[in-house]
Amino acid sequence: MENVGRKNYLIYLIAAIVAMGGLLFGYDTGVISGALLFIKEEWTLTPICQGWLVSSVLVGAVLGSAFSGKVTDYYGRKNIIIITALIFFFGSIGTALAPSLEWLVFGRIIIGVAIGIASFAVPLYIAEISPDNIRGALVSLNQLAITVGILSSYLIDQYFASFDHGWRYMFFVGIVPALILGIGMIFLPDTPRWLMSKNLEDKAKEVLNKINNNDNTDIILKNMKKTLETESGNSWKELFLPYIRPAMIIGIGLMFFQICTGINTIIYYAPTIFQMAGFQSATAAISATVGVGVINVLMTIVSIKLIDKLGRKILLSVGLSGMILSLIALGFAFYATEALGSALKWVAVGSLLTYIASFAVSLGPICWLLISEIFPLRIRGFAMSIMTVFNWGFNFVVVLTFLPLLQSLGTAVTFWMFALISIAGWIFNHYYVPETKGHSLEAIEEHWLQGKHPLELEEVLSQAS
Ligand code: BGC
Repeated sequence: MENVGRKNYLIYLIAAIVAMGGLLFGYDTGVISGALLFIKEEWTLTPICQGWLVSSVLVGAVLGSAFSGKVTDYYGRKNIIIITALIFFFGSIGTALAPSLEWLVFGRIIIGVAIGIASFAVPLYIAEISPDNIRGALVSLNQLAITVGILSSYLIDQYFASFDHGWRYMFFVGIVPALILGIGMIFLPDTPRWLMSKNLEDKAKEVLNKINNNDNTDIILKNMKKTLETESGNSWKELFLPYIRPAMIIGIGLMFFQICTGINTIIYYAPTIFQMAGFQSATAAISATVGVGVINVLMTIVSIKLIDKLGRKILLSVGLSGMILSLIALGFAFYATEALGSALKWVAVGSLLTYIASFAVSLGPICWLLISEIFPLRIRGFAMSIMTVFNWGFNFVVVLTFLPLLQSLGTAVTFWMFALISIAGWIFNHYYVPETKGHSLEAIEEHWLQGKHPLELEEVLSQAS
């Protein structure tokens, strides 16, 4: 019993160290909102230059995720995460010391590369090292770290706001989690599943024995071996094989709905939205934004508590319903501005907080979790990196088009459009997303091999339990 407790403690510790990558993802995407206010003053930046500065990280993230998938399958999950920590470390120093805008934009692209890699390598590592019954919670620690990273970036931005050249400190702080991640990773093993894919069975067994609570290590190894035998090993070819198609549709679909339902218009532009809703002072708008960050963290914790008990599908369904209702309300708040008068800002705050809470229990953690679960072992790293390219690609488009959309369609219609996309997301989840709770990664892979519909995975589960 004591041994079981120690193993659980160890696996949580491992996941927490690896999740530092998620914290860096959140911190480095959030930090620019505050830093930008000071950089644009100091260097008198035009709106176009500001746009470049903000979106450079997204360009880097697309590049980083596009080119690292095969490397992750070839050189291992551990090594790629160590390299990512190094990039974060030097990127933070480089951007903090930037002498010119060009340098800074380049530095932010480099940081973006690290974000792109971390966004899939972290959930991948955790999923592959986790016992099946707590995999949802462990992988979602990554999302918790992302939200903590976003919140701490808001707070650290506020703290350094009064310093001379405060923005340089804001970027510099990123070296702390980068050091923890890099040094911590040196002491961690690679995942048993990756070790098996490299025929390092003894090492895989050793790692499994350390972290696995049950005595079924041999069965787990046998299942891994079986799945490895059935695959061809050519990543691109494999990705387009008919039996992988459902996983591809689910992965791309989830990435589309996670981003195109508007989350980052709120995360990146919350102060602007609050100002539009009537909070005149920048301080009030920024405080309301911190509120968004806090709810994001708290509701992610709620999701982690529920994810392995209630399952992924029900949380997605409830969360998407909340998003639909709050987006309709938010649109209405801006549509009926005159009728609502000063009540507008409270309707806006209420619906924004409901929206973020609903996202945090559902699409936030579950999308990254599911893409770490649904792909076959041999191409898992590669496939996840491709899904991540979609995530950052969609993000790039949404973030760049949001302000022009507000101008051309109007605020109300823009949020209603996100509500419509959320409705489509609800339908997609209901009719196509499988329940992976409690299944081993090998069982999910076997399910695709048998050519079954995603929803039938649920039936397998209920038969088995
Ligand atoms: C998304 C990010 C988003 C964050 C908000 C993540 O899962 O991928 O784009 O900013 O959640 O918490």
